[in-house]
Amino acid sequence: MKKIDVELFEKMHIAGKLAARTLDELTSFVKPGVTTNFLDKICYEYIKDHGGNSAPLYYRGFPKSCCTSANHTVCHGIPSEKILKDGDIINVDVTAFINGHHGDTSRMFYIGDISVKSKNLISATYVSMMKALSIIKPGMKLGDIGATIQDYVELKGYSVVKDFCGHGIGTVFHEPPNVLHYGKKNSGITLKSGMIFTIEPMINEGKYDIKILNDGWTAVTKDKTLSAQFEHTVGVTDEGFEIFTKSDKNLTQPPYLV
Ligand code: MF3
Ligand code: CO
Ligand code: CO
Repeated sequence: MKKIDVELFEKMHIAGKLAARTLDELTSFVKPGVTTNFLDKICYEYIKDHGGNSAPLYYRGFPKSCCTSANHTVCHGIPSEKILKDGDIINVDVTAFINGHHGDTSRMFYIGDISVKSKNLISATYVSMMKALSIIKPGMKLGDIGATIQDYVELKGYSVVKDFCGHGIGTVFHEPPNVLHYGKKNSGITLKSGMIFTIEPMINEGKYDIKILNDGWTAVTKDKTLSAQFEHTVGVTDEGFEIFTKSDKNLTQPPYLV
């Protein structure tokens, strides 16, 4: 069996930790009245101050340092002067680039008091990612990840976005394989120890269809229902898996999840 590249895994832990700490840092600022531009500024500065760069900035023309996707925005929302208000839910997606390696992670934040339906969607999305993660080991098929997510969220009446997927990551931001968040058990490539990729399911309250706004980036649900997303960067090890983007403070997990 191939052994993991220990040095590569250490670099991924450093990049992943910086991305996770950036989201931890944002937590206290996500309150009613804050703009998504302000969150972007904190993200930019925190990563800079800790020796890295924000990979999204100028990536394929993306204008900001992170993605901020609120309510019915599925992903790739562009930070702006939009003011967050009580009851909003928002995904912030951060990718730190440090020492030549990328750490990519996102989580949901809650502004003030949010509805029960928002909590349920967010919880199911988080659980689907963690269920998919926890089965990772060498020898399994990539399709099992997607199948695990799809089976879990569809039972709850939600749908899996099909237009975006997880991805291989390391010195390159996005590389093969594509990690679909839906699919059939026992399909796709066989996982080997040493592989590194993201799992980042986008789950919609309504139908899975999305549309892209005129800015060329922002993806929203076509039926305007809520959407949630979480993302971790993970590595396949001889024993199973490692999460590179774990929060030291366990802040990824929704607080109301039992
Ligand atoms: N962080 C996103 C991902 O999970 C990619 C954002 S690309 C950007 O893959 F250009 F929109 F920032
Ligand atoms: Co990603
Ligand atoms: Co991301």
